[in-house]
Amino acid sequence: MGANEGLTGGQGASWSNRFDQGLHPAIERFNASIGFDIALLQQDLDGSVAHARMLGRCGLISEQESIDLISGLEAVRQEAAAGSFRPGLECEDVHFAVERRLIELLGPLGKKLHTGRSRNDQVGTDLRLWLRQRIDGLEPRLQRLQRALFQLADQHLHTLIPGYTHLQRAQPLSLAHHLLAYVEMLERDRLRLLDVRKRVNICPLGAAALAGTPLPIDRRQTAAELGFETIYANSLDAVSDRDFAVEFSAAAALVMVHLSRLSEEVIIWASEEFGFVRLSDRCATGSSLMPQKKNPDVPELVRGKCGRVFGHLQGLLTMIKGLPLAYNKDFQEDKEALFDAVRTTEDCLEAMAILLEEGIDFRVERLEQAVASDFSNATDVADYLVNRGVPFREAYQLVGGLVKTCLQEGVLLAHLPLERWQMLHPAFEQSIYAAIAPRQVVAARISEGGTGFTQVQLQLNHWRNLLMCS
Ligand code: ARG
Repeated sequence: MGANEGLTGGQGASWSNRFDQGLHPAIERFNASIGFDIALLQQDLDGSVAHARMLGRCGLISEQESIDLISGLEAVRQEAAAGSFRPGLECEDVHFAVERRLIELLGPLGKKLHTGRSRNDQVGTDLRLWLRQRIDGLEPRLQRLQRALFQLADQHLHTLIPGYTHLQRAQPLSLAHHLLAYVEMLERDRLRLLDVRKRVNICPLGAAALAGTPLPIDRRQTAAELGFETIYANSLDAVSDRDFAVEFSAAAALVMVHLSRLSEEVIIWASEEFGFVRLSDRCATGSSLMPQKKNPDVPELVRGKCGRVFGHLQGLLTMIKGLPLAYNKDFQEDKEALFDAVRTTEDCLEAMAILLEEGIDFRVERLEQAVASDFSNATDVADYLVNRGVPFREAYQLVGGLVKTCLQEGVLLAHLPLERWQMLHPAFEQSIYAAIAPRQVVAARISEGGTGFTQVQLQLNHWRNLLMCS
């Protein structure tokens, strides 16, 4: 080997004798995925164990050889657990790394493991096993956050909060209603991930390089042993498909969208101007310069980390879109994207759950004061007239004019004397005051799914059954 040649390729390499020279060291580094795909080691071992067992059952190797291969693979697993399995760049990727070590441990028998399979179906299998497991880990994280939201909602059924459209005061809400909206969003995320899981859970193993194999393998057996629901029907599709990675990233991107919107609200609520929440010392940080500051770093980071996950989705789509069938090395790029999308989503779900579990306090007096000091009960004045036979559009116009003069005079609707109401329209009576009190404004919205306390109580019951009984 010349001085400029790397360790991969050439004599003694994982590839065939077709190569005389080793790789250029820079190209070796450029080509290798071992630095990150070592994360797939357990899945690679699982896939190989299932493959080795199948080879024995199908008579492609002897039963004893199958047993010895499996013991060798388990020995590699133990070395990894002990920290002594540390493959270098010369291994290129996790698949070669395991095979090499197996050959070192078992001698020529190790060379039988790759019978009837290719790294192309192998890497697809590993990645799906990995992602399936991580999706299963995301579900409890989503539910933890749902539970944290539910628990706050349960405490705040009767706490009022201004509701906004266009970030302008619109109508008051039950705070529980506001929080439960996020529980709904996260439920869609959970169901979406479960749906994606179905398409992650299809086994490509046995597609071999792209065309299948003339050897009498049993794809159903390896798929069943690895817990896959079914196998890919078309070997080309099996090694070419990365839709599942895109679908997952899209589902993760929506989780991040939801977390980001919640974050944005918490950040606004924590500002001096709103003052709707206080963040606990355990979940907020100080400024290095301004001693008075308490910064909402957790929701800001969550909002900021969205870019990563959205970027990975875009990156995957772009990486795949021009690829001819079947495997292309471009696919190696799918791993870091997926790894980071999963880790970011997991971390953000956990941080938000902690923030809601112990890091946030709603300032009930401030909220009550907020809803009592605006014109968000104006619609209810119009509704009051509608209930007394005035056509809605006419009532709407009357109240619009009233709000205008109140704003000019700096007086709230609740503080107008009865004569003023009756000058506007004779249908007004003393009962107008009760009708426009914020608590009554909320209570009145009893349409299905509305913010009326009785409706929100039904929603709380629904979520208590779903979230707190499991
Ligand atoms: N390291 C490769 C990847 O991550 C494994 C598959 C390589 N297959 C190949 N034919 N070069 O995609």
